[in-house]
Amino acid sequence: MKAVVYKGKNSVAVEEVPDPRIEAPSDAIVRITTAAICGSDLHMYEDRSSAQPGTVFGHENMGIVEEVGPDVRGVKKGDRVVLPFNVACGFCFNCSRGFTNACLTANPEGTTAGYGYAGMGPYRGGQAEYLRAPFADFNCLKLPGREGDELEDDFVLLADIFPTAWHATEQAHVHEGDSVAVFGAGPVGLLSAYSSLLKGASEVYVVDRAPERLEKAKSIGATPVDFTNGDPVQQIRDLRKRNTRQMEALRPSEHKMSGVMCGIDAVGYQAHSEDNPDREDPMQTVRNLARIVNPTGHAGLIGVYFPKDPGGVDQSARKGYYEFPLGDFWDKGIGIEMGQAPVKQYNVFLRDMIIHGRAKPSFIISHRMPLSKAPDAYSHFVWRGVGQGKDFTKVVLKPSLDKAA
Ligand SMILES: NC(=O)c1ccc[n+]([C@@H]2O[C@H](COP(=O)([O-])OP(=O)(O)OC[C@H]3O[C@@H](n4cnc5c(N)ncnc54)[C@H](O)[C@@H]3O)[C@@H](O)[C@H]2O)c1
Ligand SMILES: [Zn+2]
Ligand SMILES: [Zn+2]
Repeated sequence: MKAVVYKGKNSVAVEEVPDPRIEAPSDAIVRITTAAICGSDLHMYEDRSSAQPGTVFGHENMGIVEEVGPDVRGVKKGDRVVLPFNVACGFCFNCSRGFTNACLTANPEGTTAGYGYAGMGPYRGGQAEYLRAPFADFNCLKLPGREGDELEDDFVLLADIFPTAWHATEQAHVHEGDSVAVFGAGPVGLLSAYSSLLKGASEVYVVDRAPERLEKAKSIGATPVDFTNGDPVQQIRDLRKRNTRQMEALRPSEHKMSGVMCGIDAVGYQAHSEDNPDREDPMQTVRNLARIVNPTGHAGLIGVYFPKDPGGVDQSARKGYYEFPLGDFWDKGIGIEMGQAPVKQYNVFLRDMIIHGRAKPSFIISHRMPLSKAPDAYSHFVWRGVGQGKDFTKVVLKPSLDKAA
């Protein structure tokens, strides 16, 4: 079969690899109909992770069950399914408590497993024609409808970024009426803003510099903040101050709460410096959260920070050590949560919101491309919404488009 193979820094190729086969009785083989490229793939693509050449990428996968092992009961050949990016057994101490992001069974070398990802176990990715899905009964989320129908591009986002973004709003304790600042208007940031609004947040600010991405934030009813126009924290404070009703509702001493109650980092360790966007400043977003989140508020770090980064800005960053404004967080009593999303906690109810027309996350998708065009897609998407990738917000790959061509 054909698959997207990592060749080394800034290079992928679509190559012939062996077809996957049933290796354990609980496996299924899925014929991929759509696989998305994720901002997380870019960390590997840019050689900013421990990914080795030869890795087949792709952890946002959906398709049609082609074959099941003898122990699989809940899905059968022909079923349409989407797979959480976390590979999980369903029965270990962590899975049974809902923490499928920390499965103790699926990765012999660690406590987190996923498809086609550095350090996440021996599973090939699904930017390919076929995928082996382990523990298929537990991991396959069954979908209605037919391959390629009008919900295909909403459903594929259930593999990662819609549940991940929802999880970010849980990490940041977003509830009805809340004020929220999201840093990063990539797919995860945009869907974090969208999830906040679905939960009934009253104010949602989205910070980035990529014009088309900020435009998408505006299109869903969030307030875009362009950090190239000045300090985004001050911009958010000024926007809030300009809302006279908001200000009239405050008692004098309540002006101390001029920030937001919930802050989300949807950028991660490859954050650009606001002073010089050509440079990276891995703690840029975290420092902003320490400033903009009000006392007693919450911050969620859904953007990734790796323990090893071969391209880190200095010796400490290469080990995942950063200068962290602990005192500011502590002083304000801000709760902080972080880590990988347990997709399975959310994908069922988010699927049902899509089925019933309450959610349409596919507004973020900018490009639908044949699998064979993956190298092209990566080379543009890696610009993260500016320069040669200014209209690339989210790319989905479809093997069927190769056959149609
Ligand atoms: N925790 C999880 O389970 C999980 C799952 C999926 C993705 N992620 C991570 O979430 C992050 C975002 O993913 P994505 O797909 O949206 O990626 P992306 O790279 O497309 O988006 C990142 C965005 O951040 C913006 N940005 C850079 N510096 C900034 C700054 N200083 N202030 C504000 N915005 C800034 C960029 O312009 C870009 O639009 C990545 O680190 C990704 O690996 C985590
Ligand atoms: Zn992803
Ligand atoms: Zn498990």
